[in-house]
Amino acid sequence: MQSIQAEKTSSNPYVLKIENLSVVRSGKLVLDDINLTIRRGEFVAIIGPNGSGKSTLLLTILGELKKKTGKIEIDAKPTSRGYFGNIAWVSQAASNLPDHIRITVQELVQLGTLNPANLFFPYSKKNRMSVEKAIEMVGLKEVQHTDISRLSGGQRQRAVIARALAAESEFILLDEPLVGIDRDARNQLLKLLDQLCHDAGKTILLVSHDLTAMQQTAHRLVYLEETIRFDGQTEDFPNLETLASLRGIRNVHVQEHVENIQTEFDHDLEKCKTNDSRED
Ligand SMILES: Nc1ncnc2c1ncn2[C@@H]1O[C@H](COP(=O)(O)OP(=O)(O)O)[C@@H](O)[C@H]1O
Ligand SMILES: [Mg+2]
Repeated sequence: MQSIQAEKTSSNPYVLKIENLSVVRSGKLVLDDINLTIRRGEFVAIIGPNGSGKSTLLLTILGELKKKTGKIEIDAKPTSRGYFGNIAWVSQAASNLPDHIRITVQELVQLGTLNPANLFFPYSKKNRMSVEKAIEMVGLKEVQHTDISRLSGGQRQRAVIARALAAESEFILLDEPLVGIDRDARNQLLKLLDQLCHDAGKTILLVSHDLTAMQQTAHRLVYLEETIRFDGQTEDFPNLETLASLRGIRNVHVQEHVENIQTEFDHDLEKCKTNDSRED
């Protein structure tokens, strides 16, 4: 199924194109020579251990961090700070809104439809309909008049996604959306993202350190650790041993085994020498 999706999207125009990107934070090279193209309708997961530069990459795509080298284009236009185009950003903090913010699901989603053109007349019929549709798509109709602070973490994530849908964002970026939500909420969220991709033609770029969950959901996996060490269809993702060698990590057990053999060998050699000298 994932290969069919790859075929379906391979001729689509690209939404994101990154060339030769490097980023330095506090004097340290955090991203090095990143090249990545994402086409409309793709569901791409960026995976990698803590501190590997995943959030840095998303923040640089959003124009929040400075590039040292390279180029980032969204919808064939260079990005700059403050340029969001049709990108929606679902940060980890989405499920962590402070409790003192009193706003209902419907109001939050409504905010997504605000733009300079309708600032003074935001409640048109068209807007109301897109808010309603977005809330329905993420499965929050029953709690649409409930305060966000009373929702679970998973529901809040979905409310933020609904806001992105109401804003008609085509490209949805999510940073670790699975952290802090329970298994059912996680499955529901991943299913929703899959539907948005297949049925609504949205492009999804999701950052996660949960390899197993991503293997079950994303069409394409990008393994990032300072630079991209794997980029391909999910079914082609290397096994752990190959991945370790891509990361330059050696199996300590094999090493230990080799060392044990070496010690035994040295020991035997010593014994031989002693015997030899006795025979002398
Ligand atoms: N605000 C910051 N200032 C300086 N360095 C940072 C900052 N945030 C993260 N870093 C460094 O950048 C590297 C990548 O971090 P990050 O992109 O947050 O990784 P990930 O999201 O994959 O866990 C880490 O080495 C981290 O220490
Ligand atoms: Mg991060």
